[in-house]
Amino acid sequence: MKYQSRMIAMASMAAFALAGFSPAALALDVEAAKDLAEQNNCKQCHGIKKDKDGPSFLKTAEKYRGKANAEDEIVKHLTSGKKVKLADGSEENHKIVKTMPPNDMAQIKNLAQYILSTQP
Ligand code: HEC
Repeated sequence: MKYQSRMIAMASMAAFALAGFSPAALALDVEAAKDLAEQNNCKQCHGIKKDKDGPSFLKTAEKYRGKANAEDEIVKHLTSGKKVKLADGSEENHKIVKTMPPNDMAQIKNLAQYILSTQP
């Protein structure tokens, strides 16, 4: 009997995890992330599913799927302005995301989570 109720508890915990009920997932504000990407012209170089000058958000999500440091890596990418290569072979510093107020890490993390949550 004891064993059985423990199994039930474990099964419901697994269902919870599968449904994605983690605090991070609940915190994602999709509309805010889309607005921020819009304001920063990210879509000029990134499609959701289509590669342009840069990889699609889906490709980035797949690259980092299951990696613990994914959000940090994206945040770093969006704040450091490292040199990137465009499709025509020219190089420029990657856009540093602009927020209102400036350098609002909560907004930048939200955008990173949004990119990483892209599904096929
Ligand atoms: C002028 C074109 C351009 C603009 C504008 C641009 N990007 Fe990029 N982005 C690139 C290119 C090119 C790469 C590929 C870099 C590489 O692979 O070295 C890239 C890479 C990325 C990556 C992948 C980083 C990784 O670690 O794999 C993310 C995420 C990203 N950009 C997000 C954004 C966001 C968000 C914005 C808007 C704030 C933005 N980009 C604006 C060209 C652009």
